[in-house]
Amino acid sequence: MNRALFVMAALLVALAGCGGGTTATPTPVDPATLGQQTFTSYCAPCHGANGEGFINALNAPALNADGESYMLSDAAILAAIIDGGSASGDTPLGGAMAPLGDALSAEQEAAVLQYVHTLWNDDQRAAHETAGGHEGQ
Ligand code: HEC
Repeated sequence: MNRALFVMAALLVALAGCGGGTTATPTPVDPATLGQQTFTSYCAPCHGANGEGFINALNAPALNADGESYMLSDAAILAAIIDGGSASGDTPLGGAMAPLGDALSAEQEAAVLQYVHTLWNDDQRAAHETAGGHEGQ
């Protein structure tokens, strides 16, 4: 079997493992913890431990309630995480954010996206949802 076929087969086996229903899949870390850990390791160096922003020369904006990241859709935030601040593509960003798509697993990306939501206040979370922030997720 060639390599591509092998990868496909391995994927199918992995997918078949999901949604199996009855057998309990071991969950190493719950998503909330994973989100926080991912944020601390991958986002805090630029955005600050609490998402306060503007901690170094890159001037990464605040991701907490002081910032405006709640106005972005989930798709835009996810695109920023995966593709970084590329001028092209789906991200509205400039160029200084590192693309982390290769460094993070899909689970980490989803978890850290949800973690960013926890940095906002209730009004901002509500505004984010009203604006369709959860579309496509
Ligand atoms: C290398 C530094 C760096 C890292 C690491 C980084 N960012 Fe950023 N981020 C930036 C900068 C700088 C910007 C401002 C836009 C630009 O210049 O690309 C930004 C912008 C953003 C924005 C848009 C905010 C807004 O209000 O427009 C979001 C959302 C974001 N980052 C989330 C994250 C998350 C989540 C992580 C971790 C998974 C992360 N960033 C890791 C530097 C970084």
